[in-house]
Amino acid sequence: MRAPIVIILAAGQGTRMKSTTPKVLHEIAGRSLLGHVIEAAATLEPEHLVVVVGSGKDQVIAHLDEIAPWVVTVEQEQRNGTGHAVRIALEFLEGRGVSASESPVVVLTGDTPLLTGSSLTNLLKSHVDGRAQATVLTANFVDPFGYGRIIRSGDLVTGIVEEKDATPQQREIQEINSGMYAFDGAALHTAVTGLNSHNSQGEEYLTDVIGIMTADGGVVIGIGAQDTNDIMGINDRAQLAQAAAIMRDRINVKWMQAGVTMLDPASTWIDIDAELAADVTLLPQTILRGPTAIEAGAQIGPGTTLISSEVGANAIVRHTWAELVVIGAGATVGPYTYLRPGTVIGESGKAGAFVEMKNSQLGAGSKVPHLSYVGDATIGEGTNIGAGTVFVNYDGVEKHHTTVGNHVRVGSDNMLIAPIVIGDGAYTAAGSVITDDVPAGSMAVGRAQQRNILKWVLRKRAGTSSAKAAERALETEQ
Ligand code: UD1
Ligand code: CA
Repeated sequence: MRAPIVIILAAGQGTRMKSTTPKVLHEIAGRSLLGHVIEAAATLEPEHLVVVVGSGKDQVIAHLDEIAPWVVTVEQEQRNGTGHAVRIALEFLEGRGVSASESPVVVLTGDTPLLTGSSLTNLLKSHVDGRAQATVLTANFVDPFGYGRIIRSGDLVTGIVEEKDATPQQREIQEINSGMYAFDGAALHTAVTGLNSHNSQGEEYLTDVIGIMTADGGVVIGIGAQDTNDIMGINDRAQLAQAAAIMRDRINVKWMQAGVTMLDPASTWIDIDAELAADVTLLPQTILRGPTAIEAGAQIGPGTTLISSEVGANAIVRHTWAELVVIGAGATVGPYTYLRPGTVIGESGKAGAFVEMKNSQLGAGSKVPHLSYVGDATIGEGTNIGAGTVFVNYDGVEKHHTTVGNHVRVGSDNMLIAPIVIGDGAYTAAGSVITDDVPAGSMAVGRAQQRNILKWVLRKRAGTSSAKAAERALETEQ
């Protein structure tokens, strides 16, 4: 069998989304609706894949350049119907010296993100095995309202009639047209040139090619979708949410079958590009976005969002938001930790409660346990950063870097005014403002000497509860 040509129709406006973003660019599971359809179509290894664009074409074309530069686009300037769109795609290919006449042509729409490669493979195989001029992917719906209905005579399909053009009797038919088809290229080419727009919508209906083919004695078959979700089209935000939930369940089942434990799959959202090892545990309300990778034995959540990040084996990440971050094996992060791009937590390192880090590398076994901001820093191994420390990286105009060596002990509540270097094994006193480099092995003290003004409260706050408490204490001392 020759590799098929795939045409994806995506010129429509998607008015019901009520969005400035073209409908097919809305996302589920971290990929555009159109991106999901292209991914499914790619399993057919098409010789050519043409996307028909129109409404919002500049955005759609820019998106395709980014995610699938191998596909080509053709503009349908006037939305004259699905048949017109397919005709334009075939003419475009001809103009490039590609004849569709010798290949199967698969027609899809850009708004069916739940379509799977296996549904398409099955469609194409049935089509080729059945030696049909057209094979329509169908489904039986309890409520078929709005869809084209499949007219059959015995096993064969004789036509498709649109809801708006159907007789009351035809509207009773529950077998609907998914809008996905495999065609014999030559038969499709002939049929689309014979289309007219004598119908209730004044459009060239692709569905009319079925009647044209069968009238000429061609064989058209209809095969049921393996999973009716596969053909679900997105028209509005409610359907977008439904499809997202179905996709979430599919992704979660796949990972659970691969050995991932999920306490609450319904609140666990994993993008299509994530990679999880066996024996990962995901606690409720975990969101893994982009190409996030989690190694074996790691425990993520509850309440954690990881974006395009890596987590090493056996790490624990609780109540955390992290983007473009690497968390080493055996490290612990959270709860309530904010890790911004460029943060690397070394093996067995720790970023604890209420810690924010940005563009900073924390060496193996080093710890930032509590209430700190670490920005633009390189921290060595085995170092401890005391509670409430701030890496003061911003002078109001520029950002500066701080280097902290190995086995350093930064005291609690330090301000480390960048740029500075703290040498290996150095200590800094609690409450210090460190403005100069600290040589290896030194103790840096950067704070005012304490001064006690004796009996100040007794004199200046006489009669207060504090003064009375002090008097009692001083009496018993005597
Ligand atoms: C179409 C089918 C209907 C089927 C349904 C499945 C026709 C005439 N009807 O109806 O039998 O049950 O899909 O969802 O084909 N498009 C273009 N250019 C156009 C018109 C449409 O690119 O000029 C694209 C749209 O962006 C969309 C797809 O084609 O992706 C389907 O168009 P739409 O108007 O939604 O068709 P339906 O009325 O839903
Ligand atoms: Ca329509």
